[in-house]
Amino acid sequence: VRASLHLDPARVVAPVSRRTFGSFVEHMGRCVYGGLYEPSHPSAGTDGFREDVLSLVREMGVSLVRYPGGNFVSGYRWEDGIGPVESRPVRRDLAWHSLETNEVGIGEFMRWADKAGVEVMYALNLGTRGVQEALDVHEYLNQPEGTHLAGLRGGKPYGVKLFCLGNEMDGPWQIGHKTAHEYGRLAAETARALRAAEPGLELVACGSSGSTMPTFGAWESEVLSLAWDSVDYISAHAYYEPLDGDLASFLASAVDMDHFVTSVTATADSVAARLKSKKRINISFDEWNVWYLSRHQNAPTPTAWEIAPRVIEDTYNVTDAVVVGSLLISLLRHSDRVTAACQAQLVNVIAPIRAESSGPAWRQTTFHPFALTSRLATGEVLDVKITSPTYATTRYGDVPVLDAVATHEPGSLTVFAVNRSQDEPAEVTFSVGAFAGPAGLAEAWLLTDTDLTATNTQDNPDRVVPQPLEAVSVDGDTVRVTLPPVSWAAIRLT
Ligand code: AHR
Repeated sequence: VRASLHLDPARVVAPVSRRTFGSFVEHMGRCVYGGLYEPSHPSAGTDGFREDVLSLVREMGVSLVRYPGGNFVSGYRWEDGIGPVESRPVRRDLAWHSLETNEVGIGEFMRWADKAGVEVMYALNLGTRGVQEALDVHEYLNQPEGTHLAGLRGGKPYGVKLFCLGNEMDGPWQIGHKTAHEYGRLAAETARALRAAEPGLELVACGSSGSTMPTFGAWESEVLSLAWDSVDYISAHAYYEPLDGDLASFLASAVDMDHFVTSVTATADSVAARLKSKKRINISFDEWNVWYLSRHQNAPTPTAWEIAPRVIEDTYNVTDAVVVGSLLISLLRHSDRVTAACQAQLVNVIAPIRAESSGPAWRQTTFHPFALTSRLATGEVLDVKITSPTYATTRYGDVPVLDAVATHEPGSLTVFAVNRSQDEPAEVTFSVGAFAGPAGLAEAWLLTDTDLTATNTQDNPDRVVPQPLEAVSVDGDTVRVTLPPVSWAAIRLT
């Protein structure tokens, strides 16, 4: 198929928000224990954190990490994780039917985040807890010395700016699940109290846990109407998988993400109109990924209470990586309204990084499009006009075969593109004539494989890696690229 892109340096969507390259660490399965933290591992420092995992997190270009949940947070008592480790209680985690030892608590995680060089987005428990506990954990994290909880912390305040007001409170599975009215009031009062403590905080209200929720839209509208003055963001969560082997729809998952973002934006803006407000609520897309959810849904509820059991350790293939790349294209395209996003999760649990106990850590296929996009998306996001043939999908109707986004700063232009066709290469052309700087190819990467089911494993960790894209040429102002079927590419001109 033939496709073209129209790029114009004046058509700026927004600056690239570094927070787009966020991730998520939940006390779930082996994400924290056996992932980030494993004191007996040969690469662990004296603080118990695995250096091999840390170095992959840095290489991946993660900017922000949401913590400590997820469903876990809705039953979590943050104060269990402070003070001497040997005195910390072991608790039941009802979200994942496991035992939480509290060996890693706030202090440990903040140390890890500092080593990883990431900003922390702290999620508050608004499931079993409320305004007071939210204030307490904020005092522990951010209050300068001179109060009881700042004293318990010791040392400098952590200065966390971004807080989630609960997690997926619309979901009936959530501990302390609430109606939109109940949650909207609680979010508003929690936010108001937090702002009295520290006016400059950025606060995220829970949106829907998925766009197929029966309350989708109505939930955002009611929650935002109740909490309008005191929140900055509404969250969005989306997970994608090929259902019934329908790869055509799966490859078009970003169409659904685009629709999700525009629907939530429209809902937020309609609340603004009703309230006669000029304020704009942005989206924190703080859980997104490929997750083979249906494989896990029929798994029996565990009866044993284990510490860090192996749960949802999905192994990702080439197609999954292409979809992850395309979801990043969608997030970047909406940079005017999606200003924070977290791939869920970071290590072992539906994660781009895998780590075995006493064994190696390695990059899953999905690591690569994330790392390349985080490194190469710089400057401003451009609104790209795409001319492409379409193909039919069962879930989303006719969708463009080619999708793309571009980022630009003086002297450099990067195009991220995906070919969703399963059987035809896409010949893509674009002109850089309107740009003063970029003249030649700096680097170009391609993620694809003749075996779309290929994965990276402990024994063969680099089976799937991005390859230099050879089928790209620059002829004067015209760039021509050929993308094989089911592929993702990043092309940088300087
Ligand atoms: O990321 C796994 C789970 O998915 C999170 O705990 C929850 O918020 C979502 O449903």
